[in-house]
Amino acid sequence: MNDTVILQAKSLQKSYQLSTGESVEILKGIDLEIQKGEFVAIMGQSGSGKSTLLYCISGMDQVSGGSVMYNGKEIQTLSDDEISQVRLLSMGFVFQHSYMLKDFTIKENIMLPALKAGKVSKEQAAQNARIRMERVGISHIADSDITQVSGGQLQRAAICRALINQPAVLFADEPTGALNSRSTAEIMEIFNQVNAAGTTIIMVTHDVKVAARADKVIYLEDGQLRQEYRLGKWNDAETLQSREANLFAWLQQNGF
Ligand SMILES: Nc1ncnc2c1ncn2[C@@H]1O[C@H](COP(=O)(O)OP(=O)(O)O)[C@@H](O)[C@H]1O
Ligand SMILES: [Mg+2]
Repeated sequence: MNDTVILQAKSLQKSYQLSTGESVEILKGIDLEIQKGEFVAIMGQSGSGKSTLLYCISGMDQVSGGSVMYNGKEIQTLSDDEISQVRLLSMGFVFQHSYMLKDFTIKENIMLPALKAGKVSKEQAAQNARIRMERVGISHIADSDITQVSGGQLQRAAICRALINQPAVLFADEPTGALNSRSTAEIMEIFNQVNAAGTTIIMVTHDVKVAARADKVIYLEDGQLRQEYRLGKWNDAETLQSREANLFAWLQQNGF
């Protein structure tokens, strides 16, 4: 594994044991390599194993076979504490819902992973939260209760929280799945900016418009990686519509 690769999965398998004792294989031997700075979208039909793959490559879930190398380390060889530390310090997570804690303000929620990591003072954590909120246009809701803001604002706050410890990789599972088209476009602008600043992004989505922002799309089918499609990094000269059209045509060939 050369040092431009941040994440590598080899023959990755994941099975679940059902209550009947029967074992079902969800991921059936996936080989995957993600370069530092890449923006990768994972697509595939519902139930194809996208979330499971994301959880396995980010150390949230244990694999049943094969290996996952993250930054040169095989994550199965790490203890639970070591994996937690890698996840806290080097990975950020965004899901369909923001999972903010209701007893804290927006800013306090964003600061939590920084306080948990304990690498900076409380004042510095607050300052880091303010900088991130400013970048995504939510400074004015810093002291709001999480019930007082919109879904799009909450998701922007979740991105700030995911980025507070300056992770190398941002993992996202259907980050725009609960948003309207306007908020979706705003969130994707932010993802492109975060990626342009150097953060690797690995994102599950079934929205072609969202995936068209990525450099590369990988397509899962029934727990296997069927194809990948390289769009290249998006630059302003290229229209999103043409990327979407090309990606859509490719997806249709794959039975999307
Ligand atoms: N904890 C679990 N136990 C048993 N089966 C599971 C579990 N989690 C997910 N699955 C099954 O694995 C398959 C893939 O799920 P998932 O990764 O969530 O798919 P996707 O994100 O592509 O919709 C589905 O058939 C789902 O029912
Ligand atoms: Mg899913």
